[in-house]
Amino acid sequence: MREKKYIVGNWKMNGLASDLMQIGEINAFCRRHATVESAVCPPATLIARAAQVNTDIAIGAQDVHHEASGAHTGCMSAAMIKEAGARFSIIGHSERRADQHETNDMVAAKAAALKAADMGAILCVGETLETRDAGDAIDFVAAQLLASLPNGASSDWLTIAYEPVWAIGTGRVPENSDIADMHAALRAALASKIGANSENMRILYGGSVNGGNAAEILSLDNVDGALVGGASLTAEKFLPILQAAL
Ligand code: PGA
Repeated sequence: MREKKYIVGNWKMNGLASDLMQIGEINAFCRRHATVESAVCPPATLIARAAQVNTDIAIGAQDVHHEASGAHTGCMSAAMIKEAGARFSIIGHSERRADQHETNDMVAAKAAALKAADMGAILCVGETLETRDAGDAIDFVAAQLLASLPNGASSDWLTIAYEPVWAIGTGRVPENSDIADMHAALRAALASKIGANSENMRILYGGSVNGGNAAEILSLDNVDGALVGGASLTAEKFLPILQAAL
């Protein structure tokens, strides 16, 4: 566990230049409050403009290709997003695992590509409602994490995000005890693979986090921060989450 909470906004396929002022407000909040760390992942089209002016937070990408270059129409390499100003990328988000059929192996390769470019990664894992209802969530997500983990995983560049698929964008949040149990299990899974460094690896919770539930979720054991979708799109909704993390 680290002392500072890490609150990351994932804008998904939302945001035009006229929305950059929202990131400006988030950046200004973080300049005033050193006890919280934040980052925003706008769509790739806004990374460069966001990164140029918002230096009190990190700007991240939402995805990266695992290869350094080549015939992959529409994709971006780690070097490209880094040059644009991204310091890290989200990888393995459940929407990409579902929509683009990304596998654990592909996610591990993306992580390795980011490490090779000296960038950070936020690696997402999470179970579907079907798996949760079957009582298999912890085993499934721990296995998913271990299978997606790259060689050389360590807390200085890698962050984990636990995001139950059924909680994303739905307004449904797991019981606090379920979040705490999952985060403890993921910490133990990390320890089995990388040893003591697992203590320092950040494990974020994501899925319908908002200004009303953030304080409670962030107070749970082994919850080092939050990955926020819908409530990160405006400063009005995101700043209360940062406030709850102070
Ligand atoms: P949400 O999305 O906060 O809108 O549920 C979270 C995420 O997908 O990262």
